[in-house]
Amino acid sequence: MTDVRQWIVPGRVNLIGEHLDYNGGPVLPMAIDRTLTIKVRRRDDDTVNVWTDRPGSSKSSFPVTVQPGDVGDWASYAAGTVWSLGQSGHTFGGADIVIESGLPSNSGLSSSAALTCGIAAAIDELFALGIGRTDIALIAQRAESGYVGAPVGIMDQLAVLYGEADHAILIDTQAAPPTTTPVPLGWEDAGLVLLVIATGAHHSLADGEYAARRDECERAAAELGLDHLADAGLDATVNLTDEVFKARTRHVLTETARVRGAVSALNRGAWPQLGQIFTASHESLRDDFEVSCPELDVAVEAALEAGALGARMTGGGFGGSVIALVPLDKVAAVRERVDARYEARSWKAPETFVVHAAGGARLV
Ligand code: GLA
Repeated sequence: MTDVRQWIVPGRVNLIGEHLDYNGGPVLPMAIDRTLTIKVRRRDDDTVNVWTDRPGSSKSSFPVTVQPGDVGDWASYAAGTVWSLGQSGHTFGGADIVIESGLPSNSGLSSSAALTCGIAAAIDELFALGIGRTDIALIAQRAESGYVGAPVGIMDQLAVLYGEADHAILIDTQAAPPTTTPVPLGWEDAGLVLLVIATGAHHSLADGEYAARRDECERAAAELGLDHLADAGLDATVNLTDEVFKARTRHVLTETARVRGAVSALNRGAWPQLGQIFTASHESLRDDFEVSCPELDVAVEAALEAGALGARMTGGGFGGSVIALVPLDKVAAVRERVDARYEARSWKAPETFVVHAAGGARLV
């Protein structure tokens, strides 16, 4: 059928800058060559139909005037996007939308941002709404915060929209609107690959704990008289009285420094340093920010034991994926060591695969 449009939308990994996007700090994600495919066509009425290939899920239908609370479960991301487009004053008709996911489930590779950004971009193009990519990112973010109920930052949306082959995307989250700058990646020329270890773990506290971390950071910033915790000075960890606030702030300060260090290491091709920065980030997320979990920690340890230059959890935490910077000739050893460590704990084997930096959402 000629009137069907097909969009390819990438997932993302965050290289460094974890839990900084809602704290006004810099973040450095990259879009990856694992994607979601969205097929859309216009309808003559005001109904939106969405189908997905997720096991056990069926079709969802709702009107373009859908409101928060009307649609739940996986389809709330689609309904939320339609609602959020309306909230921004856009007028459009119904559509049939088919989603095929090439992202492993519970992988923390931003299938939700791929879905919301992809649907917003598809509707924008279908009805010639003329929305820019940054506004699409903000509309998608509101779909999650205002409809799904997850108070996420803006990193994932900008990563899946502005991704570029062979580049990471440095995001200034404090600029209004946030800005993106491509940063060239050169590790493949140096015989290294970026490995994703998708643990498949998803701890049920993930959503509540994400909101709790965000709240703690906002309260710590308020106590310091700051709008953004990333702007705190080194004295902040002394001036704060609450030990939890101190630890969260320590992560935000050291992680901000690690982003700068990682950009410098990338520019210089200083791969061992980049690896060390990854590992230090993991330790900070585990000990100070407390968003790791045993599956992530074991994957990081196993990767390092088998010769990775560095490894860290990526994304929100409490499950999802680890990234590891690995010499090409150590990839098999890392995979074997991770599998063996998981088997010893009777955990399901993770999915381990190489990713390359890829382009953002595109119509094909
Ligand atoms: C999730 C959120 C992002 C970001 C990360 C943590 O992926 O969607 O906005 O806060 O967690 O860095």
